[in-house]
Amino acid sequence: MTDFKKIYQQVYKKNNLYSLKKDKPCKNILKNNRPNTVAVVGGALGDEGKGRVTDELTALFLKNHQKVVHYRDNGGANAGHTVETEGVRIALHQLGSGIMQKNADIIMGKEMVLHPEDLVTEIKDVLKACKSKKLPANLIIDEMAFLCLDTHRAFEAVIKMRSRGGEGATGRGISPAYADVVFRHPLRMRDLMARTWKKKLKKHYEMYRDWVKGMGYKLTDLEAPRLGQPNVRIGSYAVFEKRLAKTRQTLKQYVQPVQDKLNKYWEDGTPIVIEKSQALGLDKRWGVYPDVTASNCGFDGIFSSTEGVFDPDQFSAKIATIKATYSSSVGARRLPTLMKGELADRIRKDAHEYGATTGRPRDIAHIDLPMLSFLAKTGRVEYLAITHLDISYPDTPVKVCVGYEIEGKPAVYRPDQEHLDKVKPIYIELPAWDGAATQKAKKISELPQEAQQYVAFISESLGVTPLLITTGPKRHQTIKCF
Ligand code: IMP
Repeated sequence: MTDFKKIYQQVYKKNNLYSLKKDKPCKNILKNNRPNTVAVVGGALGDEGKGRVTDELTALFLKNHQKVVHYRDNGGANAGHTVETEGVRIALHQLGSGIMQKNADIIMGKEMVLHPEDLVTEIKDVLKACKSKKLPANLIIDEMAFLCLDTHRAFEAVIKMRSRGGEGATGRGISPAYADVVFRHPLRMRDLMARTWKKKLKKHYEMYRDWVKGMGYKLTDLEAPRLGQPNVRIGSYAVFEKRLAKTRQTLKQYVQPVQDKLNKYWEDGTPIVIEKSQALGLDKRWGVYPDVTASNCGFDGIFSSTEGVFDPDQFSAKIATIKATYSSSVGARRLPTLMKGELADRIRKDAHEYGATTGRPRDIAHIDLPMLSFLAKTGRVEYLAITHLDISYPDTPVKVCVGYEIEGKPAVYRPDQEHLDKVKPIYIELPAWDGAATQKAKKISELPQEAQQYVAFISESLGVTPLLITTGPKRHQTIKCF
């Protein structure tokens, strides 16, 4: 069991800015292994700012390279983040966060579950925001990517109405779409583009019609949520097909085989930024049920979705994003370090902690080192992108959970709600710092001393090196540690 208190003694009492001062491999971050190859995962329970971090890394590479590949690996419309580039602010769900970058290839990978109609809405939103007929980046959708349709969303709604299983989910039909993969009858983008698309689609519709009928519902009358629009009534097969007929025409230009491209880019040294979705703590292998998502949220998923081409062992940096002073969560889980009262409300308001996909207010929790270190270890994390360092109030110490006990005896973190319901968190309180001063800092040495110590403590505790720190909502409010 990691002794976080001992690490605290080392960092604070000896004033030892360990990770920040030592000549760690940060300096050569872009030169390790296959140079210029970075992958970003969420290091906690989602919404830690991956979109912004991957977008900024893409922009960084584009300063010195003519082209960058931005690969989005998993998930679908359950993700949500806002990206701001040159004064244009846009909310993204399915598109890779580098979509606003000229000279970037945005590849939407084989393990994604894509909702075609929502994707078209998102593409139109980007075109509108850029006042252009052409997307800034070059969008490529892997023909092998899975479809996530209104049928999946309706089915998820039925499960939610009937029983446990759907609660907490974003309602975007993600797990039914991945369940089709496990059942070995998924629909892929190339099925939608094929001449025989109507036949396959009809078979799919009829299967879902029969499934929901068996559960006492009529598919035609069920509704599916839509991105930024009112719910859609599923309707008859003819109506369902008509909606997709228009959509497939718009998407056709972007759908293609990608395997040769991935091979070529990997071989010719083009910089690669990989954006994972959701977070390590939402992975079905490492997360707490029922609040897990259906895709693989770790770096290892990249190896399978690229059919062994993008090898995580060769990446120059495997990065996890975490929020500096707190955690947030959506879903039904009961967090041991859940924060209640005024401080939670203040953080929720200042950091705008409302679901980007669902608009739900997020739960706010004290930072939980046992959980984060479990996820860093099992997720094979090497570097940290620490976001929201400005969320700190000088009048309120930062409370950090450094361990658990059950009936007075030390206990470990395990991804099991029954176990977590029994644990009592052990906290230490650390000196807070001025958020406004933090927002102005351009380099680590300009951060308030307490914030520097804190970053050193967190990264030492998790055994990972800080790479990027965000100090405010604006793009320039990012400190590079390399
Ligand atoms: P699903 O991905 O819609 O199946 O939802 C499964 C669980 O993951 C639920 O608890 C969701 O709230 C959570 N979840 C899915 N995507 C995100 C995300 O991007 N951020 C935070 N939580 C998410």
